[in-house]
Amino acid sequence: MVHKPSNKDKVYAKPLKEPEGFKFDAKVADVFENMITRSVPGYPLMLDLIGMLGEMYAIADTRCYDLGCSLGASTLKLRQHLPQSCHLIGIDSSSAMVERCRANVARDHSQASVEILEQKIQDTEFESASVVVINFTLQFIPDNERVAMLKKIADGMVTGGALILAEKIVFSDHEKQRFMTELHHEFKKYQGYSDLEIAQKRASLENVLIPNTEEEHIDRLKEAGFSSAQVYIRCLNFASILAIK
Ligand SMILES: C[S@@+](CC[C@H](N)C(=O)[O-])C[C@H]1O[C@@H](n2cnc3c(N)ncnc32)[C@H](O)[C@@H]1O
Repeated sequence: MVHKPSNKDKVYAKPLKEPEGFKFDAKVADVFENMITRSVPGYPLMLDLIGMLGEMYAIADTRCYDLGCSLGASTLKLRQHLPQSCHLIGIDSSSAMVERCRANVARDHSQASVEILEQKIQDTEFESASVVVINFTLQFIPDNERVAMLKKIADGMVTGGALILAEKIVFSDHEKQRFMTELHHEFKKYQGYSDLEIAQKRASLENVLIPNTEEEHIDRLKEAGFSSAQVYIRCLNFASILAIK
């Protein structure tokens, strides 16, 4: 099936009787590129840095992973910067995303081999990984499963390997949290979303996207077995973190 690559996101444009919990279904997959670009401030820069860091940390003859690969934006950025002998594995549990991701990957002719698997990250085995990307996906994993999942990833990585983690974050300082939430709301309005769209999407993500603070992320990464972890981009309430095994 051919999917139009970047339809405008109107998922929450009409009033809904009761906003359902957010799902990565076909309706979202059809507009996802537009949705994430207009919702995450700094997203294009974050993608560029995945390519740059991939080039710095990928080691020949190892594996690389993109966890929660969606339509393959982060997968392809990474693939385009990998040595030919790396094998890249994209993982996503949404069949709508995987179908579209495979079609996008088929149009890319970078040299490193790639496969896109429809499965849960929790069911994935990691082996000799030099680069692992988890871009805006950990926040959808139940909070009490996150340490175990990161431990499993760290155990499957080579020493010196890089985990690139991006997340929506929260702030323990109440005033800072209020201000960043307001600024993010303004950013979405600037991107053309109405107040109704913003409110309905926020309600549907409630209890589905569970954000942590930067400090919680850093502490948890160290607990999981990474020797260092630091924030290298923050744009409003969205951050990218580099952790080294
Ligand atoms: C916000 S999107 C990721 C965006 C993508 N990494 C990018 O940079 O364009 C989150 C993705 O994670 C997937 N996902 C959520 N929970 C998952 C799980 N437990 N295992 C695998 N994929 C999961 C969703 O289906 C969705 O496609």
